Amino acid sequence: MTETLKDSLVTRLRDREVGTTEFRRTARRLGTLLAAEAAEHLRYEAETVVTPLNVPAEGASRVGKLILVPILRSGLALLDSFLDYFDDATVGMVGLKRDEATAIADIYYRNVPSIGVADSVILLDPMIATGGSAAEAIKILIEAGATQEQIVFVCVITAPEGLARIRDVYPNVRIIGGTHDPGLNPNKFIDPGLGDFGDRYFGTV
Ligand code: URA
Repeated sequence: MTETLKDSLVTRLRDREVGTTEFRRTARRLGTLLAAEAAEHLRYEAETVVTPLNVPAEGASRVGKLILVPILRSGLALLDSFLDYFDDATVGMVGLKRDEATAIADIYYRNVPSIGVADSVILLDPMIATGGSAAEAIKILIEAGATQEQIVFVCVITAPEGLARIRDVYPNVRIIGGTHDPGLNPNKFIDPGLGDFGDRYFGTV
């Protein structure tokens, strides 16, 4: 395995000795790396500008509106990094609460703008465990007008169960993550994972 900056940031997030302050700082730095990675999968078109030398330079500009959709509440942890990167983005929100006993996701809030054919959507949720919340959120985006190809899902850690579920139902949604773990524990937490991302980020441990 070739270790990367991304790996080192995920390692800090995993470490149980890391408190809220470092966890937040690290999540923000990792978010910036993931935003750069996600940017490569958005749509661009050719654009020509005139430089101060009064000569044309061929380049590119992003096409359409970009909509960031954090899944409440952990997805908010990635939002600031993405807004730093894409400061013209619209922000939608989806509130999903996982029932701790059944691990089934229940929608309690949805505010997603309608999504046009030229738009792109970045869905933010740090942990893909069973894939239940992810699948519900993608369904909401599709109801709002998105095709699978317009959606990039950004997370920090994926488990095989969740990844398989999304790939099965939504094979054309692109998934960008920090790392991939081997499985889930009996409580449907990602193993080894990093614990409850929201609790660690918001300091509600
Ligand atoms: N959500 C978390 O925060 N952690 C997990 O391991 C699974 C879901």
